[in-house]
Amino acid sequence: MRPSTALLTLCCLVSFIVASPLDAYQRNTISIPLSRISGDTTITDVKAHLTAVSHKYNVTSRNYVLNTGSPHSLRNRGPPYKLGERSTGSLTGDRNSVPLKNQSATLWYGSIAVGEPPEPFTVQIDTGSADLLLCSVRCCISCAGHRRYNATSSSTSLDLSTPFVVKYGNRTEMGGDEYTDVVELAGYKAINQTLGAADTYYPDFAASNAPDGLAGFAFQEISSYGATPLFQTLVDNHVLRKNVFGISLSTQKDKSELRIGGSNPSMYEPDTLTIVPVTIKGYWQIQLDRLSRNGENMIVPTDKAQAIVDTGTAFIVTDPENAVKYYKNVKGARAVDEIWTVPCDMIGLYAPTLTFGGRLFPVSSSTFNLGPVHEGSTDCIAGLTGMPGIREHWIIGDVFLQNVYTIFDVGNTEVGFAKLKL
Ligand SMILES: *[C@@H]1O[C@H](CO)[C@@H](O)[C@H](O)[C@H]1NC(C)=O
Ligand SMILES: *[C@@H]1O[C@H](CO)[C@@H](O)[C@H](O)[C@H]1NC(C)=O
Ligand SMILES: *[C@@H]1O[C@H](CO)[C@@H](O)[C@H](O)[C@H]1NC(C)=O
Ligand SMILES: *[C@@H]1O[C@H](CO)[C@@H](O)[C@H](O)[C@H]1NC(C)=O
Ligand SMILES: *[C@@H]1O[C@H](CO)[C@@H](O)[C@H](O)[C@H]1NC(C)=O
Repeated sequence: MRPSTALLTLCCLVSFIVASPLDAYQRNTISIPLSRISGDTTITDVKAHLTAVSHKYNVTSRNYVLNTGSPHSLRNRGPPYKLGERSTGSLTGDRNSVPLKNQSATLWYGSIAVGEPPEPFTVQIDTGSADLLLCSVRCCISCAGHRRYNATSSSTSLDLSTPFVVKYGNRTEMGGDEYTDVVELAGYKAINQTLGAADTYYPDFAASNAPDGLAGFAFQEISSYGATPLFQTLVDNHVLRKNVFGISLSTQKDKSELRIGGSNPSMYEPDTLTIVPVTIKGYWQIQLDRLSRNGENMIVPTDKAQAIVDTGTAFIVTDPENAVKYYKNVKGARAVDEIWTVPCDMIGLYAPTLTFGGRLFPVSSSTFNLGPVHEGSTDCIAGLTGMPGIREHWIIGDVFLQNVYTIFDVGNTEVGFAKLKL
């Protein structure tokens, strides 16, 4: 088997939603079966994905500041922030930005239904952001091929008369209006869910295999609308058996799943379940005890760090200094456009092991190896990279998450990892 399956899967997904709403209701799950289409993964795709990740963290960490009045640990040595934009009701700055990623690297998505009568939409499942975003019927740029939200045809829709804009630097890329409506997820109904309906859409969303929209599963503290995220609305509506969702991401067909209202014990080894508390509510942020390569700890400046569990990021991402330390003494390792590559025949030796709550979780060599830099290359893209602005933090993306079952407990604000049942 070629070692490039992971990135092909990450970059070239076509999602087929097979479960009927009734099935989903009975099982209380959304299954997210994934199919792989063959294609070349290029440094350009990866770079575009990492730029989108960087943008997402810049926007959501500023949202944290604006929503809570406190600096976030990602940013608290950064430049001072102008506070009070929210209380003045002004629409300037990043307060109204909505994070979106370049869809060439879109990861995992599932189906929701919006409005009355309910209309189905496919949405990316992103635990690294907190907002629900769709394109609106007024959208005439880049929305082709996607289902659009038509507020007038939904009897439960309420126009909040609140515009939002997306800014990259000071160039407006995208904007629309906020609404509330009924959103159905795995048979559960979120009443009065805030959503953004975009009139202009991020151009890269136009890809034919991209989902219709984005659903954030992190906490309200990082919301661009300052509104309750979809899962939190279900919690507030008291409709869930447990205020928990479970995620399994797998390159194997029919093995990827988002479960709402509990975890799916048939997918993991219960005796390996390790619970770690959320340290700062906003992202799914937890303490990383240790990240080692061949037994040697790789975290600078100390042995512990903050980690953010993010299904919307393909890689394990840290700051550039940590990345340089990680690849030190790895023969043939080099950074190409800030993406690290290692000779394909050696890369499997350098996958990290992460320690959470005292338990070791190794990353397999096949998920660490994201495939050759280009067709026929003997250098492979490694699943750990550095990024400016991720100060001493570790974003734990799919390179890690494909190796575990992850439980997101909103009620107790904690994360559980368990070994997958094979
Ligand atoms: C998105 O990715 C494509 C390559 O798949 C690239 O051509 C494009 O420039 C990227 N867009 C952005 C905004 O990064
Ligand atoms: C995010 O912020 C960091 C640190 O300020 C900066 O280096 C980076 O270019 C920003 N990313 C984007 C996509 O603007
Ligand atoms: C939106 O819904 C209204 C009411 O059902 C309908 O008249 C209108 O044509 C729809 N717009 C689009 C673009 O489908
Ligand atoms: C946008 O930013 C650029 C560079 O930061 C600046 O030169 C330009 O004047 C800004 N434009 C507006 C409208 O603020
Ligand atoms: C939803 O909003 C409507 C109108 O504002 C309100 O009457 C209703 O009580 C809300 N329902 C819930 C469950 O919040």
